[in-house]
Amino acid sequence: MIFPTTSSLFPTYPHADQLHHELALHAAVRRVLASGSLILGAEVAAFESEFAAFLGVNHVVGVGSGTDAIELMLRALEIGLGKRVVVPAFAPSAVAAGVLRSGAEVVFADIERDTFTLCPESLDKLLRSPARRGVKAALVVHLFGHPADWLNLQRVADKHGITLLEDCAQAHGAEWQGRMTGTLGKMAAFSFYPTKNLAACGDAGAVATHDALLAERLHLIRQYGWRERNVSALKGVNSRLDELQAALLRVKLVTLRDQVNQRRRLAALYDVQWLSNELLQTPAVRSGCAHAFHQYVVRCERRDDLRRHLEKAGIPTAVHYPVPLHQQPAFAAQTSCPEAEAAACTVLSLPMHAHLTEQAVNTVCEAIETLPPRC
Ligand SMILES: Cc1ncc(COP(=O)(O)O)c(C=O)c1O
Repeated sequence: MIFPTTSSLFPTYPHADQLHHELALHAAVRRVLASGSLILGAEVAAFESEFAAFLGVNHVVGVGSGTDAIELMLRALEIGLGKRVVVPAFAPSAVAAGVLRSGAEVVFADIERDTFTLCPESLDKLLRSPARRGVKAALVVHLFGHPADWLNLQRVADKHGITLLEDCAQAHGAEWQGRMTGTLGKMAAFSFYPTKNLAACGDAGAVATHDALLAERLHLIRQYGWRERNVSALKGVNSRLDELQAALLRVKLVTLRDQVNQRRRLAALYDVQWLSNELLQTPAVRSGCAHAFHQYVVRCERRDDLRRHLEKAGIPTAVHYPVPLHQQPAFAAQTSCPEAEAAACTVLSLPMHAHLTEQAVNTVCEAIETLPPRC
């Protein structure tokens, strides 16, 4: 046994997922090493077509990370220096980092209170303001695994003539009106960072698109712009998914659907215990959407008390995200995004992944019930 075993009620997800797939992962590593092919070979091609089939999209192009995937989408569209991209103010820093790497600037719009995703009205307001200058696209993040309000965002984007791109780093397996997230926009960025719903054993990412020309550009850009070896037809970078990560991802892709369903079952178990609890607001799910529960995020006015209380009981929690992007020192903008600011003060991510047991969820719920009243 190479991976250490764990008896904890709250194993970390990357570790538990590796244990779950242990034999198949080892076989995949042996297969790649025996093949002698390590970069852009048969495993990457097979993963790209299997993930495209899973999503229901024409093309998937494997790249080095989710941040790279954002950068490469923008490069493929020639959105760079002098252009601007709207991102939601409540999102991980990686979202802004990916845009900035393309050379474009970020502008921030607010989120919806219930789903934490980009608010169509806020996007519309921004695009009617002077901040609209140079805006070519909006990057729609399906945060925590909840699909954004695609219909209304697309209406706003069409009205103002900008392109909608998806960030699906947290939304593998989520659905909007029966369609997988990752098939809705012009292109979609995926991360396979080891904590994601579909997790590599290192950095990895991909871009999904229906558009053959954009897929062709992405193929070139991910490897120095080469159409043929040593001839750069476009300005490119080095951002390749490697054979080992692709082979490991192929193993894990087989159980992705079941794992997302297990996340949904655990979320339902959490939900039902708090129907009558005024302390917490459970995650909303918009009608027509299937949440992928990358995170199970509650809102709680006493978030910091609750977090400390759970920590004492040995229950790991996290705050995604304590500082909204428009207030981060690196991206500081003279913008007000009240919903993003309120979310940053109240959100708490409770234990959630496909290898948790019902007993673990019950333990969290029981511990929450014992939070002493505010003095
Ligand atoms: C919403 C979102 N976008 C982009 C990224 C960037 O992905 P990566 O860490 O693979 O660069 C992440 C992951 O951290 C993410 O959660």
